[in-house]
Amino acid sequence: MSLFDRLPNRRDPNVLNKWTFYPRDVLPMWVADMDFPAPKPILRELHKVVDQGVLGYELPSLTLKETVAARMQDLYGWKVKPEAVVTVTGIVSGFSVAARVFCTPRKGILIQTPVYNEFHEVKNNIGIPQVDAPLAKSVKGNILKYEIDWDVFEKQVKKAGMFLLCNPHNPLGIIFTRKELTRMAEICIKNRILIVSDEIHSELLLDDNKFTPLAKLSPEIARHTITLIAPSKTFNVPGLFCGFAIIQDRELREKYVKEVDDLRLHVGSMGLHAARVAFSGRCDGWLGNLKSYLTRNRDFVVDYVTRYMPDVRTTNPSATYLGWLDFTQTDIDGSPFEFFQKKAKVALSDGKIFGREGEGHLRLNFGTSRSLLEQGLDRMQKAIKLL
Ligand SMILES: Cc1ncc(COP(=O)(O)O)c(C=O)c1O
Repeated sequence: MSLFDRLPNRRDPNVLNKWTFYPRDVLPMWVADMDFPAPKPILRELHKVVDQGVLGYELPSLTLKETVAARMQDLYGWKVKPEAVVTVTGIVSGFSVAARVFCTPRKGILIQTPVYNEFHEVKNNIGIPQVDAPLAKSVKGNILKYEIDWDVFEKQVKKAGMFLLCNPHNPLGIIFTRKELTRMAEICIKNRILIVSDEIHSELLLDDNKFTPLAKLSPEIARHTITLIAPSKTFNVPGLFCGFAIIQDRELREKYVKEVDDLRLHVGSMGLHAARVAFSGRCDGWLGNLKSYLTRNRDFVVDYVTRYMPDVRTTNPSATYLGWLDFTQTDIDGSPFEFFQKKAKVALSDGKIFGREGEGHLRLNFGTSRSLLEQGLDRMQKAIKLL
């Protein structure tokens, strides 16, 4: 039995979370946190803080920034100075700040749809246009593939002030290649637009996949890029809201930091403690086991859908714990999100929140025990069979 087969009970009625949001008989497979406890070194650190008794104000320490920089060096051989590390209250705050500073009512935010729902909220929150460069979808057997449509990308980049890249991509699980990253970055630089690279899922790599931070590709690309990372997805501590913007260009960083300071975006002390331990390397054994478990869950989803739901199409994600299912070829009438909630008592994420291209699709969170994953898929398969 694996560590990841045993799940804590999160159904506290006084708390609103993934497990209490929907009625009790609905199996939650939606919001992107995993059902697993965080690694022991992080939990021990947080216990230590509580036992000491004072939950006072804390600022990001130099040690924390050095720890983040050292992790970039260890993982990717990427040289980042500690002073280039800016602490942010999560990655959504991180890219929202960038949009406030670097976009205008005429030059908005470029995104590759279907993509993480919060990317779509920036336009209204900040009051800027959204420019979509939809990824091109193709199907082989029942496996979905999405790729960059370069003509569309080159055309749309001209209307934007900032490109918000999602790499690895939520909900599609793509890890863009170095070649693709370089080409996207060069197009952005040629068109003088800022690149914000949301790399929150960069350590959740399946199989033996490798990842390259976009800003590591060349000093010129680094000068035009804000990289956003966090321990939150990797080590399952998203509720602590601590992330980092790595900004190597001093002028860019000063503009960004001014906005963060003006908005008084302070990370809570528990988030700072957890991040320091998470990025120290002390949780990497746990992470290795997690990635193996998630890789097997991913294989299970793809195999299950292929065998037992032949009309449903699925991605075969290279990273993340998120699957993407296409129900447009099934007999489901209307929204699959409502259909499965009513008929199968499972709650996935509605594909349409990721953009127009997501209509008729659902995002499945497989960051859970194999047993619950199987239960959820069984419920879905039975509901489809009864159609
Ligand atoms: C691509 C991406 N960015 C950002 C976030 C959320 O980041 P935070 O909770 O730190 O704001 C998520 C969460 O699902 C995500 O998938």
